[in-house]
Formats: sequence, structure tokens, C-alpha cells
Amino acid sequence: MKTRKNLRPAGDTLGAAPIAKPWGGRFSEKTAASVEAFTASIHFDCRLFRQDIAGSCAHARMLARQGLISEAERDLIVNGLTAIEQEIADGCFVFRPELEDIHMNIEKALVERIGPAGEKLHTGRSRNDQVALDLRLYLREETGRLDALLTDLQKAFVRLGRRYLGAAMPGYTHLQRAQPVLVTHHLLAYYEMFGRDRARLADGLQRINVMPLGSAALAGTGLPIDRAAVARDLGFPAITANSMDAVGDRDFVVEFVAACALIQVHLSRLAEELVLWASQEFGFVEIADRFCTGSSIMPQKKNPDIPELIRGKSGRVIGNLMALLTLLKGLPLTYNRDLQEDKEAVFDTVDTVGQCLALAAELLTGLFFRLEVLDAATRGGYMTATDLADYLVVKKLPFRSAHAVVGRIVAFCVEQGRELTELALDELRVFSPLIEADVFAVLSVAGSIDSRQSLGGTSGQTVALALAQAEAALGLQPAAGVDRGGS
Ligand code: ARG
Repeated sequence: MKTRKNLRPAGDTLGAAPIAKPWGGRFSEKTAASVEAFTASIHFDCRLFRQDIAGSCAHARMLARQGLISEAERDLIVNGLTAIEQEIADGCFVFRPELEDIHMNIEKALVERIGPAGEKLHTGRSRNDQVALDLRLYLREETGRLDALLTDLQKAFVRLGRRYLGAAMPGYTHLQRAQPVLVTHHLLAYYEMFGRDRARLADGLQRINVMPLGSAALAGTGLPIDRAAVARDLGFPAITANSMDAVGDRDFVVEFVAACALIQVHLSRLAEELVLWASQEFGFVEIADRFCTGSSIMPQKKNPDIPELIRGKSGRVIGNLMALLTLLKGLPLTYNRDLQEDKEAVFDTVDTVGQCLALAAELLTGLFFRLEVLDAATRGGYMTATDLADYLVVKKLPFRSAHAVVGRIVAFCVEQGRELTELALDELRVFSPLIEADVFAVLSVAGSIDSRQSLGGTSGQTVALALAQAEAALGLQPAAGVDRGGS
């Protein structure tokens, strides 16, 4: 849809008489051009044309069933709106800023097209409940789209996890090497995070999926409308209970954007790890060239711009959430024009998060772990020190004493520039006579990882199970062989 192109600047009446406002009756002066430009929202809310038309068609069908309009008028309205929808979709509809918003643009076009029947569409309805309906219809769809994108991203993590099953890497706390973990365990952490994001969106959908039409301006209507029929027609499982709340409520928008902000924060954490891992300092991963960019001055550079931009765009989405909360905080009941400001925040959020989710999933297909680097990194950093302490605990040394003993061993190693595995049994026994020949199994990376069989831990067995469960939940077939792709 090329809506911007179809916009005429406010006040440009192309020599024709100014278009009468649908609300013009009580006014004796024409609206100032500056006011028309300032109040218009059509350049962004034109995005809601499908939802607006779907809502209007359902409303017209209800009006006819209730005898408020004739069946012939209903057909004129529905056919007229369907034609307008097609025109907008084809990019040949001319939006008029002097008609403020999508609701009045469509209504006016309908009246011009079908005459007096079009003037009956707004019976028992206000733009206040109309815009609430449009937003709910829109966010209902977007929730579904984001859920699909999140699912695709989860699949990308699971596929990568299957590809690198068995590979070890350093696990970090405080960005210091802490304990060895399986690469797949690390990747499945993101599977969990994005799974919670899906659950949050699904939860928010329950509050989006409530039908507000029939609240009218704020107090309901005296006309014999049938709200349940409209809800059924549009597939809403529930109807708003208080007309004043219904036209002033944007909680469902805040919840949606809050869920998106957290998605974006998760993406940003992923992005940060990718930037770090792709650095020369870490060298853990190689990002395929098609997802990187170069420098205009430094010929050697290969920059991880995609993760950087994903990380950077989190500022936008968090900002949108703050904008919405601030927008609502001082508003008296019920509808206030301030609420028009919600839409750009929502649209920007939807665009940004959708784009970042898709890019992140795509990028994971071009991510290759450098196993030799991971292997070397996992051997360094005394990461099996906890295992050595646990070993002493099994030999009945209290954990605090064991911690102290191993601390002294590590200090000795640091001084000597050696790894724990490089110490001889005699050297180890100087620190504790409880240490015996079986200690070396404990000090190895594989031994450390495989000992962590606690539920949710990183042992090969628990991770293989978690991976299989994730594959089953996503309907993925486990890959036949372990193909590690690239390096
Ligand atoms: N464009 C308006 C909005 O987005 C629609 C509702 C306007 N209602 C009104 N009474 N001015 O909020």
C-alpha cells in the first residue's frame, strides 16, 4: 500500500470547495489549515483500513438485523466498503488529511460512492469505540504474526543446537569464565526466553480480544443495537463490560508493547553475545559474510552490523513503551484526543520487533561456532574448580573448607601459569590428602559437564532430552546425523 503517495497536503483543496467535515454542523468557520495538519492522523492510521472496514461491515450487518437500516442499505454499505478496501489496497484511494483519520476518510468515501445509505453507517457508533475496535482487531492479528516469528526463531535455535550437540564452551557469570557448558545448553536458554515471550503475547491476547463496539462515544447508546452479534461476527469471545472504560482503555496496547519491549530486550542480549563472540578477542563464532558489512576506510573490517542494529533498536521499543505509559498517566476518563498518539508507537513497535525477529532467525542460519577456539577457551580459566570442590565434598570435607582448599590450588596455578589439569597428583595432595587419582576425571571438561545432571543442568543427557522436547514442541524432526556445517 503506497498510502503516503496518495496523501494530499492538508489545506490543498485543488481549487475545489472545501470538503464538509462530518462533524461540521455546529461550526461557523472553516478549520484553520494549521489545525487540520496538526490533528490529522491519516498518514499513519491509514494502516488500519482493513480493520476499520471489517468492523464497519460487521456493524452494518448488525444494524440491518436490528431493523436500524434496511437490507438493501446494508448491501450497499458492505459492497461500497469492500470496493473502497480494494481501492486502498491497490494504492489508488486518495486520502484526505482534512478528513483527519482513517474512519472519516472511509466514511466520506462511502457516502460519496453510495449516497444517503452511507450516512447511516455511523448509527449507534462513535469514532471512540470504532478506533478501539480497530486497534484490537489489528493487535489480535499482530499477536499471531509475532507468535509465528518467535516460533521461527525458536526453531532456528533448536536447529543450531542440534547441529552443535556435544560441543562445549565456557559458561560465564560476570562475563568471567565460570563453568563449562554445552553450546546447545546455551542456545536452548534463548529457546526458553522466546518461549516466555510467546506465552506473554498469548496472555495479552485475552485482553486484546474483547469487543468494544457499542460503547459509542462513552455512555453506550439508546438505539437497540446487538453487541453480542457484532462480537460473534468478528470472532470476539468477549465484550467490554463498561462503555467508559472501553473507549478510554489502552491497557491492552501497553501490555502488547511491553511484551514486545521484552522480546526486543531478549534480542538485544542475543545481539550483544553475537557481537562479543564475533570479536577477535573471543573469536567464538563466524557470522556468514552475507550478514556482515565492511568499513569504508578499513579494508580488513568485517562488522556485525545486524546484531548491533538489533541491539540498538531496543531503544526504540523501550521508548515506545515509555511513551504509551506517559500518554496514559494523566488522562481523565474517558476518550481524549491524546490517545491518537498511541498508534505510531504501536506501529513502530510492530515493525521494529517483526523485522528484528526475522533477521535474528535468518542470521542464526549463517552462524558458525569455531569449535577449536571454544575447545581451547573451555580448557582455560580453571572452570572445573567447582567440580574439584564438589569432589572434596563427596569425600566429606565441608563445602566452605573445600572452597578454600580449591581457592589455594587455583592461586598456586595462577602463580605458576598452569591449568588445574596440568598439576600432578602429588602437587594436588599438598593442598588436601583427600585428593586421589580419581580426581582427574573430575577436572576434565567432559567430566564436569556430564556430572551436571540436575534437572535443567548442562549434562549431555539432560541437554539431549531438552533438545528433543523442544523439537517435539516445535514439530521439528531431529536431524539424522550431527552435521556441524562450517568450521
Ligand atoms: N483518530 C482518532 C484516534 O486515533 C479517532 C477517534 C477520534 N475521536 C474523536 N472524538 N475525535 O484516537
